[in-house]
Amino acid sequence: MFRTHTCGELRLSDVGKKVTLSGWVQRTRDKGSLLWIDLRDRYGITQLMLEEGISEQHLLEKARHLGREYVIKVTGTVSERSSKNPNIPTGEIEIMLSDIELLNASKLPPFTIEDKTDGGDELRMKYRYLDLRRNPLKHNLALRHRLAIETRNYLDSQGFYEIETPYLIKSTPEGARDFVVPSRMNPGEFYALPQSPQTFKQILMVAGYDRYFQIVRCFRDEDLRADRQPEFTQIDCEMAFVTQEDVLNTFEGMARFLFEKVKGIDVGTFERMDYATAMKMYGSDKPDIRFGMQFVELNDLAQNKGFSIFDDAELVVGFNAAGCSEYTRKQLDALTDFVKKPQIGAKGLVYVKCNADGTFKSSVDKFYSEDDLKIWAERFDAKPGDLMLILSGNTDSVRKQLNELRLEMGNQLGLRNPQVFKPLWVTDFPLLEWNEETQRFYAMHHPFTSPKPEDIHLLENEPGKVRANAYDMVINGVEVGGGSIRIHDRDLQKKMFSLLGFSDEEAQNQFGFLMNAFEFGAPPHGGIALGFDRLTALIAGYDSIRDFIAFPKNNSGRDVMIDSPSTIAQQQLDELFLKVTAVSK
Ligand code: AMO
Repeated sequence: MFRTHTCGELRLSDVGKKVTLSGWVQRTRDKGSLLWIDLRDRYGITQLMLEEGISEQHLLEKARHLGREYVIKVTGTVSERSSKNPNIPTGEIEIMLSDIELLNASKLPPFTIEDKTDGGDELRMKYRYLDLRRNPLKHNLALRHRLAIETRNYLDSQGFYEIETPYLIKSTPEGARDFVVPSRMNPGEFYALPQSPQTFKQILMVAGYDRYFQIVRCFRDEDLRADRQPEFTQIDCEMAFVTQEDVLNTFEGMARFLFEKVKGIDVGTFERMDYATAMKMYGSDKPDIRFGMQFVELNDLAQNKGFSIFDDAELVVGFNAAGCSEYTRKQLDALTDFVKKPQIGAKGLVYVKCNADGTFKSSVDKFYSEDDLKIWAERFDAKPGDLMLILSGNTDSVRKQLNELRLEMGNQLGLRNPQVFKPLWVTDFPLLEWNEETQRFYAMHHPFTSPKPEDIHLLENEPGKVRANAYDMVINGVEVGGGSIRIHDRDLQKKMFSLLGFSDEEAQNQFGFLMNAFEFGAPPHGGIALGFDRLTALIAGYDSIRDFIAFPKNNSGRDVMIDSPSTIAQQQLDELFLKVTAVSK
């Protein structure tokens, strides 16, 4: 028998019991007459002890030869500790050892396997199995497990079936780039790994399955960021005979259920905001509504006063940073540098300090009188002691820039507490997005999203103005999920493909199966997919999803533990009819 208990289990009430534990040596402390070992497993840490004169000498000798991460099995008696550790659940007891068996030795680990590690990112990724032994990672994966179970419980209780869809599918040109897989049995042809099971879940609705879900891996060959991995997991869902309202209520219910189950908190009814408002008030389609600083537009007040930068701008817009009038020259310069960073791209930043004595001090005093600034302050609802921050330029870009500045100020002022959750539905997204470079429209969500019925008449002449029955679930500025009511009519779907620049033949070639299915009684349907990695990280209070995935890829899309991607043997290439023409590293 390897163990009678785990390393996280024993308490004062077990004192006197003879127990056997197995685990890893976290560390040993040898004080000469006393020797302690911290023994670790998935469940916790238990302190083991040996005492000169009481314990057998050969056990002390054995213990002195144990290195970090050695795997051992020990037997002993639970006793009360003289100096207790209130920080761990087993902190009141220790095991007086009567036997130690070495199960396996370990090389010296390349970084310390404790809550705070000295290992850099790449090293931790290379030795992921060691990193995964650390508590923070264990907690993350435990949370992920719990969320998956509760998701299944909720969706099962709502009548959803979990149905698997294939991973070897067909490449489609929309969205991100596909990962492709050559087919040996079909020379010159390729499968693609799914970016999402979108078309399959819609076909399941045509097949009458009514409510589908899947916790499913998706693959996208796109640039990586903290919240993006090339393979990630979605809670993917679809429902038939539903309106947008039904979908929002079902998944608001799910999110509230999950927060309740794993965090014990009620996040309340979700706020709702349409896309146009989100862009106007926050410059973002995923606003963080944990704090205010909504945008205030200033064109009518700030233009035609001789300040050419504002005069020439399409939009003059800012927000009020309450209580920041005492910002120093240095702090204001730092904010200006922040907005001028190439990734943000503003030309400069205008500030107006609303001094405590009711006067104003601005970076544009030359052009605006105290009276002008007073009117601005009224519109900004700025009080003495506040600071107005203003940018100008082309509408779309200036809103994006001001969004970045708002988030930065939110960070600086400690307004983005990761343990506070403010969920939001963003609705009424535009159906299409114009791309200047390629001079064509792209589906903002995906080509299967239905236009709002009241906007269908605009499809012909003003397609850019058509709004979609599409929605995103946004929590704390993170796009947790997105979905839409779908087109279920063959002719409308065909029209959509033509708007997106597909010829009839291309549409038939790529999506013929779906359009054919729509000819056999497609019910009205809609759905959503939540990013499971993002949801888990968010609930834990983190921005990066990497440590919520057991085996993630690094920023170059590499798995440094297994060293992948890698070259393949010539014979494999030949079998697949592939020729590698250029390799640059
Ligand atoms: P969408 O493309 O918006 O919708 O994806 C849904 C959610 O998946 C998460 N997500 C990602 N998470 C980690 N890494 C990535 N690379 C990544 N890409 C997306 C986000 C996002 O909100 N088929 C539609 C859904 C539908 O219409 O039902 C879809 O995939 O949290």
